[in-house]
Amino acid sequence: TVLIVDFGSQVTQLIARRVREAGVYSEIVPFQLAEDAFHRLSPKAVILSGGPASTTDIGSPRAPQVIFESGLPVLGICYGEQLMCAQLGGAVEGGHHREFGRAFLDIRKDSALFDGIWEVGSRHQVWMSHGDRVTALPEGFEVIGTSTGAPFAAIADEKRRFYAVQFHPEVIHTPDGAKLLSNFVHKIAGLAGDWTMAAYHEQAVQAIRDQVGDGRVICALSGGVDSSVAALLIHEAVGDQLTCILVDHGLMRKNEAAEVVAMFREHYNLSLILVDASDRFIGALEGESDPEKKRKTIGRLFIEIFEEEAGKLGGADFLAQGTLYPDVIESVSFTGGPSVTIKSHHNVGGLPERMNMKLVEPLRELFKDEVRVLGKELGLPDSFIGRHPFPGPGLAIRCPGGITREKLEILREADAIYLDEIRKAGLYDAIWQAFAVLLPVQTVGVMGDGRTYEFVCALRAVTSVDGMTADFYPYDMDFLGRAATRIINEVKGINRVVYDITSKPPGTIEWE
Ligand code: XMP
Repeated sequence: TVLIVDFGSQVTQLIARRVREAGVYSEIVPFQLAEDAFHRLSPKAVILSGGPASTTDIGSPRAPQVIFESGLPVLGICYGEQLMCAQLGGAVEGGHHREFGRAFLDIRKDSALFDGIWEVGSRHQVWMSHGDRVTALPEGFEVIGTSTGAPFAAIADEKRRFYAVQFHPEVIHTPDGAKLLSNFVHKIAGLAGDWTMAAYHEQAVQAIRDQVGDGRVICALSGGVDSSVAALLIHEAVGDQLTCILVDHGLMRKNEAAEVVAMFREHYNLSLILVDASDRFIGALEGESDPEKKRKTIGRLFIEIFEEEAGKLGGADFLAQGTLYPDVIESVSFTGGPSVTIKSHHNVGGLPERMNMKLVEPLRELFKDEVRVLGKELGLPDSFIGRHPFPGPGLAIRCPGGITREKLEILREADAIYLDEIRKAGLYDAIWQAFAVLLPVQTVGVMGDGRTYEFVCALRAVTSVDGMTADFYPYDMDFLGRAATRIINEVKGINRVVYDITSKPPGTIEWE
């Protein structure tokens, strides 16, 4: 195990991820709990993360001294470097110019950290983000790399196996960073690198058992990858102490609720309740055209129905959620001031407070692509694992203007044809997310010998890494022509199709 002590950097999880990618198990613990964790885990190496504090401030976080006295290899990153200097007898000064973003590291000395990667005299791109800097080294350390803004950008005490860098090797903007971390865990700490997602799977199951005991767990299943993987893990851990609830709000894609239920019933023997609440949702939404009101109505009804169902089961002690690491960062990282609400995202985040349940979130440490690997581990079919994301409020936010049952039906059909064409063209996996939108606009057309006056359908397809930014997908015109023709011919109510070529920003992926 590698112990990663977290001092609050927004990218600490990436350190864990890189270490996992190097095939070594790691655990992140907040600095306040580091001493206990150190004794509990008996790690073979320690990494000290970056963080927003300044070691020059009174009361700023420190690493437990036992880490430095243990004889284990230690790697300090950014704040972690300053901390090592402050705690081992060097000096750190604040208030210098801030260095932020891309910088270049000049390699001054051979080091086990650079072994096989960087040679003396070469220069490499690294990513910096710091205000303070080291001004005097602790005894035993020497400089192994420098940058313009940081004369102590990389330092080492090879004898004690202490290494520290001012830049962030864990982010992709330090192109060789992953190799550096791999050197630290393999060559310096001597760890084998045979840890896999299979091992994570086992650990996660054990952690769920420890947390849940003999309590009851309910899980809101949406049919998406995240909630499905979370449900399967928990089911494996505690069997029928888990009940999954799938609320069909009538805003899902064509056949979706039935497919999800069939998939779970066929492959897994878990208790799954399908609640058909479409009349309630659509009744409440009918005629509503304000995007935020739609979202809030859906969120409120979802909670109501979930509470009713939980009540019928006699209550529950735990609520399971498929929260991923990016959700965790987004919800805690905005310390710089209030952030503007672009859209009120609907998830079950509002539930626990009102329902007095504890959360079980077995995917909190993972990124989407890791969840997919774990899903494979759990035997989820590929077709399920590779599914495009689908928003909680479903088709309601793809139907701008007033919602009616008729419009939802038209949209559902058009969307199914569009996705069918995408699959046939072999493009599904190259696209991050694709869907149809039904515009509240009618236009004139001619079909056969008659005049038509029907709705416009917009097609959307984007590429993205994490949904935070996105580009429209550059289809060839033949594909667009084929999809448009089929939709217009096969869906009564649509006589015109357009393609959305807006990227995000300035657009968003969904239309509402
Ligand atoms: P936007 O439209 O904000 O969407 O660019 C980014 C990603 O988030 C999805 N999305 C949602 N997902 N609940 C969800 O679970 C929501 O309320 C919601 N709104 C948008 C959207 O589909 C895209 O993948």
